[in-house]
Amino acid sequence: MHPKQKTMDKTKILFVCLGNICRSPSAEAVMKGLVEKEGISKNFEIDSAGTAAWHAGEPADPRMQVHARKRGYNLTSISRPVNPETDFDKFDYIIAMDEQNMRDLKNMAKKKEHLDKLHMMTDFSKEYNYKSVPDPYYGGEEGFELVLDLLEDSCQGLLEHVSENEQTNKK
Ligand code: 4NP
Repeated sequence: MHPKQKTMDKTKILFVCLGNICRSPSAEAVMKGLVEKEGISKNFEIDSAGTAAWHAGEPADPRMQVHARKRGYNLTSISRPVNPETDFDKFDYIIAMDEQNMRDLKNMAKKKEHLDKLHMMTDFSKEYNYKSVPDPYYGGEEGFELVLDLLEDSCQGLLEHVSENEQTNKK
């Protein structure tokens, strides 16, 4: 590969939850906010998807939008299901919000390289010690706040991980 091409490659990140209307669109917005703040958004492609297609074509859950907006995040993404035919090849990091999302993604993966791209969001946590980002859909307001707390923390960790990885790959 021409050396110039490497620097032009974007790091592609896909966040995945069940419905793609609460957790993963929020992760997408938090991560986009972080890379914008750092002035490095041109190096990234960031998207989200759901393991279920129930809400395909819908904007984020209005409750999630309200809580996100209070922290300055505008949830603009429209729900879509994971496409196993294209997403596993396209994205470098595929990040599951909970264990069921991870099981579903593992079942969709067709080869070892696909499995290697799978991570749990909370594996990148710095301050919190949660095993997953809990589904806020059937709960109260505090669930939506917890989602944002966990995502702000783990997206920071993810950005540090990606930056370190990129440095090592360039050496
Ligand atoms: P999400 O939340 O996976 O964070 O988008 C949910 C959205 C919808 C449903 C469950 C969880 N649902 O049952 O429709």
